[in-house]
Parts: sequence; structure tokens; C-alpha cells
Amino acid sequence: MTDSIHPDVKSILFSKEEIHEATLRIGKQISKDYQGEKVLLVTVLKGAFIFMADLARCIDGDVEVDFMAVSSYGAEAKSSGVVRILKDLNAPVEGRHVIIIEDILDSGLTLKYLLKNIKARGPLSIEIATLLFKEGKQQTRIDCKYIGLLCPDYFVVGYGLDYNERYRNLPYIGVLDESVYS
Ligand code: PRP
Repeated sequence: MTDSIHPDVKSILFSKEEIHEATLRIGKQISKDYQGEKVLLVTVLKGAFIFMADLARCIDGDVEVDFMAVSSYGAEAKSSGVVRILKDLNAPVEGRHVIIIEDILDSGLTLKYLLKNIKARGPLSIEIATLLFKEGKQQTRIDCKYIGLLCPDYFVVGYGLDYNERYRNLPYIGVLDESVYS
């Protein structure tokens, strides 16, 4: 993948350098907050897979990873509010420090569901790390301890984020051209 902009992308919102800086900042904070503790990174597939892979390498200390696949959007460009578990965690979370890793917090409906679901399994603690936080879009209050970048209300793709399963491999986060989804 080169740095040239994809023809379906109108503009680059966050460069790979900006994403790396934000990831490093969160990684350092997590390393400090969980010093001497083991932490389980629960990655929400598919969108968060690239962020988790980079974030895990920015954390000093004892880290385990596990994956959950959920779907909150269909082929639509907006949240449906309906969350389905497509793949559950392999590891038990009881008595463990859990950080849920997300690529984007938009309406917050996915995380509201996930928090309730994982809290019911009895973790020692649970926090959220999201790369992007869409400003003013939350339909529910979510306490998110680690936020990478504040994202204006555009349809964004790249660095794990898709539209119809495309563009996840872009190394930057860009604004999708309206002609692609209108
Ligand atoms: C996206 C994203 C979050 C969720 C955020 O997932 O990865 O999980 O939507 O939206 P919300 O805050 O409005 O609930 P999506 O359902 O598109 O699946 P994907 O990660 O497989 O692309």
C-alpha cells in the first residue's frame, strides 16, 4: 500500500503519523495505569484489528489479546442500533483487567451492549480504548478512558474502518466520497 490517496477518498482526515502518535500516547498511558498487572485486550472485530495490533506493540507489560466479532451496521452507512454477536471471546474474563479495544465510538450503542455483556461475566475492571471518538454523535453515555482522536461527523474509512468491507487496508483514515454510498 502506497501513501497515494485512494480515488474513492475525498481527503485524508488522519495521516498514519497522526494515528501512530495517538496510538503511542494511549499505549504509554495503559502501560502506566496497569503497571505490574496483566491486562486482557478485548478486540472488537472487524474494525479494531489494525488498531489493536499497533496498540499492543505500544504497551509495555503483560498483555493478552482476545477477539469478539459483533455487527452494528448492515451495509448501511449509519448505526442500526442492533448489535449481534458473530463470535464470542475464547477466554473467561472473570477476575481479569479488561480493556475493550474499538476503532470508532459513534452512537455508542455497540459499546453499551458490549459493556453490559462483558460486565456480567465478572471482570476485575473494565475500560474502553477507542482510536476515534465521533464528536456529538453518542446516543448513550459511555465512559471511555482512552481516546485517540476526535473525529468530526464524516463517513470515514481506512485503518480498519470499512464501507461494505472495503478500504480497511488504507494506512490513513480518510473521508469517503459521497458518490460511493449515495
Ligand atoms: C463499527 C465499529 C464499532 C461500531 C461503532 O463496527 O467498528 O464496532 O461500528 O458504532 P456505534 O458506536 O454507532 O455502535 P461495524 O458494525 O461497522 O462492524 P465492523 O467493525 O466489522 O466494520
